[in-house]
Parts: sequence; C-alpha cells; structure tokens
Amino acid sequence: MSKPEEAAPAEQTLWDEVTSPINLILILVIVYLVYKIVKSKFEGDVEVPPPPPALPKIRKDLTVAELGKFDGTQPDGRVLLAVNGTIFDVTRGKRFYGPGGPYSAFAGKDATRGLATGQVAASDKEFDDVSDLTADELASAKEWEEQFREKYDIVGNLLKPGETAKSYSDDESETKKSL
Ligand code: HEM
Repeated sequence: MSKPEEAAPAEQTLWDEVTSPINLILILVIVYLVYKIVKSKFEGDVEVPPPPPALPKIRKDLTVAELGKFDGTQPDGRVLLAVNGTIFDVTRGKRFYGPGGPYSAFAGKDATRGLATGQVAASDKEFDDVSDLTADELASAKEWEEQFREKYDIVGNLLKPGETAKSYSDDESETKKSL
C-alpha cells in the first residue's frame, strides 16, 4: 500500500500539462498568430495597392544608343536590357533594374558581358560583340538569356552598327506611341 503523498506525481493529468502557464502562453501566441493570418487573408486585398497599369508592349529593334533611353528614368519607367543580342522588357523586374536597384547598371544596356562574367557593370562599347569571352562565360550568358526568355517579353534585336531595324508591323502603332 502506497502512502497518499507518494501517489501525488501520477495525478498530473494531460489537462494539467496543457494548462501549465508556459503552454497557456504558447496557445495564446498560436491563437493570435492564426487570427492575424486569417484576418490578413480577408483584408489583404483591400490593403495592397493595385499594381500599376501595364505598359503597352513594344516590338522594335534598337541600337545601343536607342536602348540607353530605356533605363527606367523616363516618365513611363520602362526598363529594357539586352542579352546576347535580344532586347527584353524587364519593367516587371523594376525592383532589380530600376533606378537605385541592385542591377540598375544593366538598365538600358547590353548586359551580356556583365552577366557572363558575374560583374554588375555594363559594357561602354558602342557595340560589344563579346568575341573575347570564354566558352564558360558564353554558356553563362546563354543561361541568363534563357531565364529572361521565360520571364520577360522580347522587344526585338540589338542592332549592330550598320544593321537596320526589322519591321514588326502587328505592334507598330503601339511601338511608335511608346518611343
Ligand atoms: C552576393 C552575390 C549575389 C547575391 C546574394 C544575389 C542575390 C540575388 C537575389 C536574392 C535575387 C532575387 C531573385 C528573385 O527574387 O527572383 C537576384 C536577382 C538577380 N541577380 Fe543576383 N545576387 C548576387 C550576385 C549577382 C551577380 C554577380 C549578378 C550578375 C552579374 C547577378 C544578377 C542578378 C540578376 C540579373 C537578377 C534579376 C533576375 C530577374 O530579372 O529575375 N546577381 N540576385
């Protein structure tokens, strides 16, 4: 026969465990967090400002000089950059390329050399044919190009000196409006 005081520890029930001060605090914290999550689900749409209206798409080949205008500092904030001779509209990625962004050096520029060599700096050549890059660097630029093709709209080709712009008649009126 055990004495009553020896049996006392076994009387700690699950309820006692759950209602211990530390667990009560944890439960309150969890309930509060769940409340905040549920509340934000219902109110989220109201608080988030609507995204700015999308700019009209442009389809046009550009020279390096023309490309330079699209560095995000113009009133419409459009940002273009070129990789391997293809110009992409990266305005959606403005937080990367827009003024003050970590990759703003690529805005309005041919970014091929920088992306290939891992340097956030654009070539200042009139036209950079990147013929001096290594096979690895060119492969890296190709990977970046593929990533851009998946994520961003193509604007056209970066024109080499003496090359003339192709006509993209379908979007021509929009293109003229935006340039
Ligand atoms: C310390 C080194 C670096 C860190 C920690 C870093 C980090 C990042 C992060 C977190 C993003 C955002 C990814 C996303 O939200 O989708 C990003 C994007 C990007 N990074 Fe870096 N980065 C580094 C170096 C570089 C270098 C050296 C280059 C090129 C020369 C580069 C080019 C880019 C570009 C172009 C994007 C934007 C891609 C897009 O438009 O979606 N980064 N980087």
